[in-house]
Amino acid sequence: MIKLTFIEPSGSTREIDASIGQSLMQAATAAGVNGIAAECGGACMCATCHCLVLDAPDGSLPEMTDTERDVLEFTSDHVEERSRLTCQIPASAGMAGSVFRVIGS
Ligand code: FES
Repeated sequence: MIKLTFIEPSGSTREIDASIGQSLMQAATAAGVNGIAAECGGACMCATCHCLVLDAPDGSLPEMTDTERDVLEFTSDHVEERSRLTCQIPASAGMAGSVFRVIGS
């Protein structure tokens, strides 16, 4: 189990627990983080789990796949370099303490 922080669209900060291997989207929605609709259930199709990576240890996040990049670019108006789809990131010990800002779709 690791601790992660999500900043909700309202600006509220939530510290949550994530199990190793659980997607960050699953951990955040299970903890009731607001702003992550996860409409496709984690199938990398909707981009409603879009977050910005504000802080994470170097090399702790998996590389973005071409599919994740395409879905982000085609479905979100707010894509930037720090954008990720949280359903595509399994929690790992190395990302403990990371901070994400919820964008949603
Ligand atoms: S939950 Fe749909 S793309 Fe992540």
